[in-house]
Amino acid sequence: MFEPPTTPIDRTRQWAALVEHAKTLKGTHLRDLFDADPDRVGAMSSDVGDLHVDWSKNLVTAETVGLLVELARTAGVPERIEAMFAGEAINTTENRAVLHTALRAPRGEPWMVDGVDVAEQVHEVLDAMADFANGVRDGHWTGATGRRIRTVVNIGIGGSHLGPEMAAQALASFGHGGLDVRFVSNVDGNDVWWALHDLDPAETLFIVSSKSFGTVETLTNARSARAWLTDRLGEAAVARHFVAVSTSAQRVREFGIDTANMFGFWDWVGGRYSLDSAIGLSLMIAIGPPAFSEMLAGFRSVDEHFRTAPLAQNLPVLLGLLGVWYGNFWGADSHAVLPYDHHLARLTAYLQQLDMESNGKSTTLAGERVGWQTGPIVWGQPGTNGQHAFYQLLHQGTKLVPADLIGFIHPNHEVAGHHDLLLANLVAQAEALAFGRRNEAEPHRDFEGNRPTNVILAPMLTPGVLGQLIALYEHKVFVQGVIWQIDSFDQWGVELGKVLATTIADELTAESEPDFSDHDASTAALLRRIRAGRRS
Ligand code: F6P
Repeated sequence: MFEPPTTPIDRTRQWAALVEHAKTLKGTHLRDLFDADPDRVGAMSSDVGDLHVDWSKNLVTAETVGLLVELARTAGVPERIEAMFAGEAINTTENRAVLHTALRAPRGEPWMVDGVDVAEQVHEVLDAMADFANGVRDGHWTGATGRRIRTVVNIGIGGSHLGPEMAAQALASFGHGGLDVRFVSNVDGNDVWWALHDLDPAETLFIVSSKSFGTVETLTNARSARAWLTDRLGEAAVARHFVAVSTSAQRVREFGIDTANMFGFWDWVGGRYSLDSAIGLSLMIAIGPPAFSEMLAGFRSVDEHFRTAPLAQNLPVLLGLLGVWYGNFWGADSHAVLPYDHHLARLTAYLQQLDMESNGKSTTLAGERVGWQTGPIVWGQPGTNGQHAFYQLLHQGTKLVPADLIGFIHPNHEVAGHHDLLLANLVAQAEALAFGRRNEAEPHRDFEGNRPTNVILAPMLTPGVLGQLIALYEHKVFVQGVIWQIDSFDQWGVELGKVLATTIADELTAESEPDFSDHDASTAALLRRIRAGRRS
């Protein structure tokens, strides 16, 4: 049974050993490390599924890795991995199991949690999704006037948006079955207006995706979309043009969507881990059920590796430990994700939620304030665009920014003369960051190098590879949360702003001027200015 750790991680012998070890490495350059060990690349790169991960350009030696692995063992990483897969309530502040891995369970293999076969439940929903997705794609599911659906609009936010949006874009080359798949998330009316302004309601299907079905942005957008539809086609059209994805049948019903048109999931799926639940319905419609299954198989292969590989060969564990190494022992406060694939333009946004909503915490599982740094700021943009924007800082700035460079050996387009150039840039950047080029005569042209990267290389960006990539990051984030002794699966930090916004929205629209006495002077002045500006 899972027990929260009792010794703060920074008071362990293993942490102290890493503090001392970091001091010994501070003056060592990556050039020296490569010169000293001809087998370095072989020892510090390995494969999981189709992913090849070269982590040799990190500021580590074999001793560092040994010490980090010891830290993982002390933190209880193996036990926590088992507890997660066993469905224990490791999300302690919400008293919930964390079972996104069961969303990719193989068909026909029971996965029992508290006497319930969760794998069977998962496959029932996947089958219902596939029937529906096929119906939309082949034209059996028509709109209220009998016309075929041409556009699918997913309305959701955060975990109910970023995953399907990122993956639909990532896999756009695999075709969207002749459908236009759009995403609306922001409560800014521009978002829904621009998504709908050129659409024909008779050919438009809305998927309202919300785990809670209580998120104000999603419900506001869904109401506007509903009004747009019913103004043109009447109330009765809703049944053919709106489906819901949620864990709350009651709220779906209250919103006015028939639960016969609802696809469910479970509270043991965290929002930012829900792409491969029914939240992925828009993606499944876009790429088709077989490709969606391939993506799930990709997730599963990394899950299997994560669960079974020894810590020192376990890639999500190693990547997590490298992040801990830089964040806690080298003072790095951010991590760049640099995909060399234009279709992965939304990957960083997706990983920002995955990582920063999971590990942006400062309270331990024991309810204490952490005495160490936790999750990094995750940022980045696809190469080569980023090279002409912020790479200057990566190469010559004063900050240490560990980075992941992600690339694919084969392009998923047929435009000649581009892909080799793209890949050459990826490889060149990793080389330049690590080894630099000295120029003592012209210091402004001096590249000191010694900037760490991981290179993740796969044959091609396919659904399976995308699943592998996401699972790699999911488990990396999990490992780091275990070491930092935090709950990576809650998100209480988003609550306060939501509560205040509700009050403030009322104050902005109130007939008579509120006294704003519950607010500080700055907030009150801003609110008065907005109200006055509205009147003028
Ligand atoms: O931003 C907070 C959050 O709760 C996320 O964790 C979640 O992914 C998002 O809002 C959307 O929530 P829901 O799916 O319930 O609408």
